[in-house]
Amino acid sequence: MELLSKTLARVKPSPTIAVTQKAAELKAAGRDIIGLGAGEPDFDTPVNIQDAGIAAIKAGKTKYTAVDGIPELKQAICAKFKRDNGLDYVPAQISVGTGGKQVLYNALMATLNAGEEVVIPAPYWVSYPDMVLLAGGEPVIAPATLENDFKLTPEALEAAITPKTKWFIFNSPSNPTGAGYSWDEVKALTDVLMRHPHVWVLTDDMYEHLAYDDFKFCTPAQVEPALYDRTLTMNGVSKAYAMTGWRIGYAAGPEKLIGAMRKIQSQSTSNPCTISQWAAVEALNGTQDFIPENNKMFARRRDLVVDMLNQIDGVICPKPEGAFYVYPSIKGLIGKTSAAGTKITDDEVFATALLEETGVAVVFGAAFGLSPNFRISYATSDEALKEACSRIQGFCAAMK
Ligand SMILES: Cc1ncc(COP(=O)(O)O)c(C=O)c1O
Repeated sequence: MELLSKTLARVKPSPTIAVTQKAAELKAAGRDIIGLGAGEPDFDTPVNIQDAGIAAIKAGKTKYTAVDGIPELKQAICAKFKRDNGLDYVPAQISVGTGGKQVLYNALMATLNAGEEVVIPAPYWVSYPDMVLLAGGEPVIAPATLENDFKLTPEALEAAITPKTKWFIFNSPSNPTGAGYSWDEVKALTDVLMRHPHVWVLTDDMYEHLAYDDFKFCTPAQVEPALYDRTLTMNGVSKAYAMTGWRIGYAAGPEKLIGAMRKIQSQSTSNPCTISQWAAVEALNGTQDFIPENNKMFARRRDLVVDMLNQIDGVICPKPEGAFYVYPSIKGLIGKTSAAGTKITDDEVFATALLEETGVAVVFGAAFGLSPNFRISYATSDEALKEACSRIQGFCAAMK
């Protein structure tokens, strides 16, 4: 009998691992590597949040808790939704998990039957399609092109919906493009969803607070209140509070769905880390003053990277509204040959050659479902970004 399940055979290993592994190998061999692959802030968790975690340990808050979150955290999450998004939820509508990732996974596992479809705009966060496949569903990819600043058009959403569609996954600001949808752009999509009452909305608002210039974040249930009863609004503390390792994410939605997600969590991981939950209470209830400060820094880094990349012949880099990624197109470089003699046939070859020849690690676009592009995470120092971008400039300029 075959050891591994048929379901697992549907899932591909993370395509980002090859680049990450290669970068680690080169670094271990003593090469000068600049990693622009990691999707996390380069600074520590704010001190008030660290202190709340330490205080929780000292106070003996180290036991099991309710499966999907302590009441204090659920209350803080309800207050956050009211304060930031004008959305009313009660604690029974809140699910807290081990990162936003687990919350998404629980939602898909709790709802998908074989053959049911999930519409995913591309480029997408790498885990969406494979989570859908693990849950037995079928990802339906809807292109969000460079020409439209990587935003899904209402026409493309309409075309992707079928009678089998169960979910539409929405992510703004986006990983990997940083594209943030305006109120009107979200409304254009929710208008389509209003015509298809069988489709549920899973909105991943993980990068809500990482928004620059005059961009104003909004979320589907806020823009179209009539969607409230079929929307799961997911968010978390990982990115805005520099808490990626603490592993706390959460979602709000109809009680029936939240209860189903709790059932899955109760038979798999049980409660998210107790100490992290108390730290997350402080993250949400404590000062938010460092967010605009951090955002000034991120906006400056974004501008630096976008300017330097757009100076390259053959590269087009739109300026995104949020998150800490850019997703330049390398269409103009396809078919050229690098200084070391590698023919650039696609974005994976580009990223591999860039790493080998210059020591700059980026993630190739095919991993996110839209090519030929690559993703840079600019959550790293200005110096490293300047050096990396000038190496990319040199690498491209030397192509024949
Ligand atoms: C768009 C998006 N959603 C969800 C997650 C998962 O967040 P967490 O680390 O809280 O599981 C990430 C992390 O990279 C992300 O980029």
